[in-house]
Amino acid sequence: MTRGTTCITSLDESNREEKIQLRLWTFGLFPQRTVLDLYAGEGNLSRLYAKDCSHLVCVEQDPEVFGKLVENMRGTESKPDLLNEDNQQFLEKVAEIPDVTFVDFDAYGCPNVQIAEFFENYPVTHGIVVNVTDGSLLNLKRVASIDLAKHYLVNLYPKGYLTKRDFDSKRALRRLLPWLQETFIHLLAAKYGFNTCFLYHAMNSSANCTYYAFIAYPSIDVSLIGQLGWVTGKTPLIRYRSDEKTDIKNLRKKMKGN
Ligand SMILES: C[S@@+](CC[C@H](N)C(=O)[O-])C[C@H]1O[C@@H](n2cnc3c(N)ncnc32)[C@H](O)[C@@H]1O
Repeated sequence: MTRGTTCITSLDESNREEKIQLRLWTFGLFPQRTVLDLYAGEGNLSRLYAKDCSHLVCVEQDPEVFGKLVENMRGTESKPDLLNEDNQQFLEKVAEIPDVTFVDFDAYGCPNVQIAEFFENYPVTHGIVVNVTDGSLLNLKRVASIDLAKHYLVNLYPKGYLTKRDFDSKRALRRLLPWLQETFIHLLAAKYGFNTCFLYHAMNSSANCTYYAFIAYPSIDVSLIGQLGWVTGKTPLIRYRSDEKTDIKNLRKKMKGN
């Protein structure tokens, strides 16, 4: 049995409709040019994306599932590229694909290694909407065997082995999963020099799977700022209330006096 089919039996699809609706909401935020469905499965999402984008690439590694994907995508107008390969292989050459505006990581497990690979290989020069299905919750609740340093780039248990206390606290991390996910994305943003804005966080009703989406967008081009000097695009303008202003003035006077 392949990795994909092993997971299918344990997949909880009780919130499938909501998952699709959330993705379609983010899909409609701006016109989509190239869409990458990196865990295409049988193409339930791909079929919807195909209706409204210039170019669609679907990647599915399981040959049996891929056969169904090919059947299901027959007749779609946009003639998608259907690839029967491991998405990590595909991500090595992702930079060759122009105008990616939407990426879907609808994994059974945790797709963070692939998310990191995407941003390592694809410079963010325009807005890209990213949707993620993250199955780490189930792992944290049960065996807590997930390697956090590898998947979330944080090393919370550095000894190399887990004490009972560590294990319990690692299992309890499921409550902090949205924080862990945002930290992971912010770390990637810092590493590869882009900005992010989170769009939603959701959990299925059996509490074993989470869904989230964010937009990755480039940092402001400093040459646009020209003579304005103070515009950074990142730092909010600080406004003092008048009483605070007085305090600051007094403070300055005092400092001068010293
Ligand atoms: C949750 S299903 C995707 C469902 C699909 N989005 C849909 O709406 O029909 C995850 C799929 O990803 C595939 N998959 C898992 N790991 C993969 C990998 N490394 N590369 C490509 N496909 C992978 C599995 O075989 C499985 O079919």
